[in-house]
Amino acid sequence: MVVRIEPSILSADFTALAAAVARIPSADLVHVDVMDNHFVPNLTFGLPMVQRLLEVTDLPLDVHLMIDDPDRWAPGFAEAGAAVVTFHLEAASDAVATARAIRAAGARAGVAVKPDTAPDGVLAHLGEFDQVLVMTVEPGFGGQAFRPEMLAKVEAVRRAIGDADVWLQVDGGIGPDTIREARAAGADTFVAGSSVFGDEDPDAAVRRLRDLAVG
Ligand code: DX5
Ligand code: ZN
Repeated sequence: MVVRIEPSILSADFTALAAAVARIPSADLVHVDVMDNHFVPNLTFGLPMVQRLLEVTDLPLDVHLMIDDPDRWAPGFAEAGAAVVTFHLEAASDAVATARAIRAAGARAGVAVKPDTAPDGVLAHLGEFDQVLVMTVEPGFGGQAFRPEMLAKVEAVRRAIGDADVWLQVDGGIGPDTIREARAAGADTFVAGSSVFGDEDPDAAVRRLRDLAVG
């Protein structure tokens, strides 16, 4: 099965993001955490930064929107050229309509659930989504510990997806010590922030994660 490694630039140097992305050529996608200080208690970057990042890298971007009212804002990130736009089920008024708008703008549509959110609202409309993100920490900050009790949710989502073309992503606390159990539970797309950009050789960290997930 395909394995995708997505370094999160939340853990990179915000004053040198082009250089950070240039240091991870082995990545499959770049994970961009957009936070609005409302949906989560942290503030990062928005559409202009994503537009600029698209100009300086050939790697596809997966934009993880931790924002209120994604129904309004998500399609713009797809129109800008993000390969995947992932919004939170908890924040969306109409998740299916938002996913359809993302697809219509040319991106894969992702939907995310926080640790305390059951996946039922996603599984009921699985055909509308191209990615399901099971958060393995409370969203908002990098460097938190992986929550192993989320593995049962990953397994349940994998059972529902089967071998359909829906990526099953985990985000939060993914590193050499946790990626194998996440893979065994059925995840195929792995976000890693601190474990990649905290390494003196981020690309070697990406390759190591891939080897662990595949092996
Ligand atoms: C947290 C973000 C993550 C974060 C993960 O809310 O969604 O993408 O960058 O960081 P690590 O890998 O350090 O847990
Ligand atoms: Zn994220």
